[in-house]
This record gives sequence, structure tokens and C-alpha cells, in this order.
Amino acid sequence: MKSGYLLVKKSPPLQGTVTVNGAKNAALVIMASQILTSGTSTLENIPNSADVRQMITLLQDLGALVDFDSQKKRLIVDTTTINNYQVRPELMNKMRASILVTGPLLARFGQAKVAQPGGCIIGQRLINYHLAGLKKMGIQIKQEESFIHAQRIENNLYDKQSRITLEYPSVGATENLMMYAVLGSGKTVIINPALEPEVLDLIDVLKKMGAHIDVGCSSITIIGVNKLDPVTHTIIPDRLEAGALLLASAITGGQVTVDNVRADHLDLFLEKLREVGHEVATASNLFDETQSSQTTSITLKATHTPRPISIKTGPYPSFPTDLQAPMSALLASIDGISSIEETVFENRMVHTKELEKMGAQIELKHNTALIRGVEQLYGCEVIATDIRTSCALALAGLAALGQTKIIGIHHWLRGYDGLEQKLQMLGADIKLFYEVEKEEVLTLKKTSRKLSNLLSNE
Ligand code: UD1
Repeated sequence: MKSGYLLVKKSPPLQGTVTVNGAKNAALVIMASQILTSGTSTLENIPNSADVRQMITLLQDLGALVDFDSQKKRLIVDTTTINNYQVRPELMNKMRASILVTGPLLARFGQAKVAQPGGCIIGQRLINYHLAGLKKMGIQIKQEESFIHAQRIENNLYDKQSRITLEYPSVGATENLMMYAVLGSGKTVIINPALEPEVLDLIDVLKKMGAHIDVGCSSITIIGVNKLDPVTHTIIPDRLEAGALLLASAITGGQVTVDNVRADHLDLFLEKLREVGHEVATASNLFDETQSSQTTSITLKATHTPRPISIKTGPYPSFPTDLQAPMSALLASIDGISSIEETVFENRMVHTKELEKMGAQIELKHNTALIRGVEQLYGCEVIATDIRTSCALALAGLAALGQTKIIGIHHWLRGYDGLEQKLQMLGADIKLFYEVEKEEVLTLKKTSRKLSNLLSNE
């Protein structure tokens, strides 16, 4: 775990244009999906966040060769040599997304041994929907010491005539089940799937690899194929990083343009910013040949007379739970009473206690926060307990008098790639203090060397 802190001071109105990274949550699952193929794939627009580096280590541990150029944001992964279906618990513990290798390992080896995943403590974060869906597809699940051993039952060789109804449109369960269903014979229908942009990006990749997937408005139908091919793919822009940058513009009263985003991934969030009173304009980058035709730039020009609003989080296209805490920071300084209801995770209001330390007035009623905006927030020492709380506290720090010291910054580093630098470029007074662990540098160097040896042998 990294020690260090973020130091944020009251900043002038942010001004300028910044480009958004690739989406961490899409990158992680797409990296896991490469287990489904044998060969070398190239993934572009991969953010250099700690979670991505953790997924690189996990893939290497399974036998893959990975080369990550963090400057070019390009990841080359050769999965030919994957020879292991067991994930070490210490790797699982560090990141929730590690559970996403279960489906691909099952499809490749007929079995997978994984531990309960870790990640942000924002709720119970069960994996019962993943396991129940796999059972419906003929997978036997056994608890073996610290492992969950999932295994295809013999004599039931890929009889995937399954219809799975998810009780809740879980992002991870949809992704895992889909990745198991794409290889082999049979037809799988997932009813009530998650249709978050990151899930659709995974579907895009799987289709490029040769998968047969049909997306309806409330179901996904998958017809298994015998083989999937390596792929070249550019990860979608990170709507959560874009959201953070627009909120930074709003909270400092500035004017910021974020480039290389998908405004259609942020519809309700942008509507809510407009409801506050901010001017939000989008423009298509159709003539930028380096970007996909759907990328857009979004400009937020802050209002000087913001209004309080109400928000309720939910599965896409509802308001994203991952922007709930950052949005709370903005609402904490808007005169009047705003309300935020969190419906996705049962324990995602931890940031409110930290914001209160900074002078915010927030009343919690179960999963609803009533936020009475204050004229001034005040800097102090606060603790980030998850990725999006770290963002909320940094945003609050930009508007708070004095300085805000945020500890627990490994969460910031897990979720964002250089967000503090982008904020600095826009004029924010924010500095990150931490030392890269030796082990981290060594692992990445080792990976690069292994793959370049292999490529030069070919
Ligand atoms: C993913 C995202 C996370 C985002 C969340 C919701 C990644 C790596 N993380 O997390 O940033 O906040 O989607 O958009 O992509 N649940 C169960 N049983 C299960 C699975 C989920 O009860 O088997 C519950 C969870 O506890 C939670 C809700 O369903 O209350 C939503 O979880 P889910 O959509 O699965 O989120 P993740 O895939 O973990």
C-alpha cells in the first residue's frame, strides 16, 4: 500500500482544455477478456492506473506476456502462454475487478480457482449473481479453503442453452457471464443485464474477436463460437474522469473543456449540471482523424448563481453511482438544500463524514444525504476510503479555504492516471506526494523485457 498524500489548496477558477484518458473500468474487463484468445492483442488508450498495473500482474501470473507503454497508453498482451487457471488470493484481495477473470478462465480451461475479490469498501459487494448465473450454465461451484473452485461438470460439455435472469443489472456479473458464454456451443440469454458503456465496450471487443452477441433493450443473447481471435481495440473515454474535470470547473467557477469524451455516456450527469445552472456545451470532433467519430468535447462554463438539485443514482442510463461522491462535493457549497439518494451500493456515503470535517452540512437518512450548502468549506486532513471519495475530497479542497491534506491516496492512484496533473494544467493548486514502490517498478520492467524478447524471437 502506498503512503503519501494529496495536498490541495483553494484554487482560482480553472481554465483551459484537457484530454480524457481511456476508461479504467472498460480497460480492466477488456484486459481480462484477452484470456479468451491465444495470440497477441493490442489495446490502445489504456490508463496507467494502479488497478490496470494490478491486472497486468494478474495476467502475467496466469502466464501471459504483457508489454505496457504508459506514455503511448498502449498495452500489448500475448495470451498464447497462459497455462494457469488459479489466481493468487493476494492478487484478488487488491482489486474487485480480479473476479472478472473467472468467466474467461472457465471458457479456456473448464475451470477457475479464484478467491473473494477485494476493492473499494462501498458495500457488501457480493458475487452471488456471478455464481448463480454460472451454476445455471452447468458450472459446479465449490468452496476449497480460501478459494472458490468453479468447474464445468463433465458430460455437460458446453451445453449452454441457458436463460439467466439477473435480479439486479450487475456490471461485473453481466461481464463475467457473457465472457463464459462466448466460447463453445450453445445459446445464452442474459435478461436484465447491465448496459453501462463499459459493458458495451467489452461487447464491441468480443464481437471484433469473432463472438456472436446480440444486444436488446433488456437482454443480451450470445451464441457460442469455437474460437476467438486476437484484437486491436481503443478503449472508450473515461466518463468518470471527464465528470471529475467538469465538476472541478464547476466548483471553482471556471471554464473548462474536456476533449476525447463521449457526451452520450454522460447524458443525465450533464443534465444535472445544467439544472444547477452551469452552461454545458458539447461539440463533435468529427474531423479529428485520431479519434473515433463519436468522440466529443464538452465545455462547462460555471454559473455564479448555482441552484441546489436532487439526484438518485442507478444503473445506466441513470445517474452513475461513481459520480455521486464527486457531485456531493459540488452540492456542499451550493446555497439551499440538495438531496442525493444512493441506490446501487448500500455503504456509499462514507465521503459525507469527511466532507463534514471540511465544514459541509450533511444529514444522512439511510442512503439519502440531505446537503445544506455552506458559504465556505475549510481545508483540513481527511481520509480517502475509496476511489470516488478521493475525488470528492480533492474537488472540495479546490474550493476550501486553506489547505486540504488527503491521505489514503492509493485509492486515487487506483482509479486515476495523472488527474492531479490535468487539474494543475487547468490552474489548480494540487500536488501529489508519494514514492513509487520498488516492487512496482521492477514488475513492470520485467514484463516489458519478457515480451520484447518474445517479439524479437518471432
Ligand atoms: C462496477 C464498477 C464500479 C461501479 C459499479 C456500478 C468495475 C471494475 N467497477 O462494479 O466502479 O460503481 O459497477 O456501476 O467495473 N451485487 C450483488 N451480487 C453480485 C453482484 C453485485 O449483490 O453478485 C450488488 C453489489 O453489491 C452492488 C450492486 O449489485 O450493490 C451493483 O454491483 P455491480 O454492478 O456488480 O458493480 P461492480 O461490477 O462490482
